[in-house]
Amino acid sequence: MKKVLVVYYTQTGQAKQALDAVLKPFSENQNYQLDYLLIQPKKKFPYPWSYTEFFDAFPETVHGIPCELEPINIDTNANYDLVVIAYQPWFLSICVPISSFLQTPDAKKLLANKPVVTVINCRNMWLGAQEKMKKRLLDLNANLVGNITFVDRSSNLISLVTVLAFVLKGTKEKFMGIFPKYGVADKDLKHAPVFGKIILDNLETGQLQNIQPQLNQQGALDIRGNLLIMEGRAKFLFPIYANYISKKGTQGSEQRKTRVRIFGIVLPTVILIASPIITIISRLAPILAKKKFDKEIAYFSQNTLREK
Ligand SMILES: Cc1cc2nc3c(=O)[nH]c(=O)nc-3n(C[C@H](O)[C@H](O)[C@H](O)COP(=O)(O)O)c2cc1C
Repeated sequence: MKKVLVVYYTQTGQAKQALDAVLKPFSENQNYQLDYLLIQPKKKFPYPWSYTEFFDAFPETVHGIPCELEPINIDTNANYDLVVIAYQPWFLSICVPISSFLQTPDAKKLLANKPVVTVINCRNMWLGAQEKMKKRLLDLNANLVGNITFVDRSSNLISLVTVLAFVLKGTKEKFMGIFPKYGVADKDLKHAPVFGKIILDNLETGQLQNIQPQLNQQGALDIRGNLLIMEGRAKFLFPIYANYISKKGTQGSEQRKTRVRIFGIVLPTVILIASPIITIISRLAPILAKKKFDKEIAYFSQNTLREK
């Protein structure tokens, strides 16, 4: 009997849906046992979020500051054949619950020298978060062999509206009756067992290096030129603004509320204004700087970290 550990966090269940779909070939196979580990913060993150709570989570998320977690109900001495981690990017970083888990001694024991597959579900911006994931897994001596993303298929501006309605109002279905439903599409979930089969087959034959290229052939990664450029800019600006807020106080403190509120206005406004401009640039980039652009796409399609 082979054992798979499935570590995940979810606020509204999308991550679990994605996992169940991807792992169908495993759950239907008698030779595999799936152990699910839901990561639970001691102090729950709210859903839906209030405007201030949402933007107040920004500095600690970006800095990777852990929160306290409930004890886990998994034998940390167990020897897993594969570890699957499902998470959501928050502010282009790993969501706090999963980032916190990855900083525990339990994670070190469970993940060291193990093949790992990540399953991301998000609006559409996951590149920066996955870079941080690569780094965390490297620190744990884990071997990242596959990444699968589930994104909202709408355009960036539409999903900016629908994600805010989703996160701040709890509206999953058509916002105001006109916007498309937010989140992972049923069509993508239906296709997902194909990914699980690729992982299972290659695990059986020990050909772990084949997993990501075969996943890519089946469309496991959604890499959009405009978002690649946008994330590249935000990567430098986010830590600066996170520091600016943190200087005023810790999470939840009154003293930093003004700076949090300013951020809550500035961030959506900047995305709104920058989005069309960046989309134009991203259409030109493959023509003007084809080599560099192709290289970037190739880099984000694989699982090692860039050499500094
Ligand atoms: C605090 C916070 C920050 C977020 N930041 C991002 C982000 O940087 N990129 C992105 O694509 N989605 C972002 N999202 C959207 C989440 O990825 C989305 O809520 C997720 O799909 C919900 O998954 P769940 O149903 O498993 O809880 C953010 C959501 C929250 C709550």
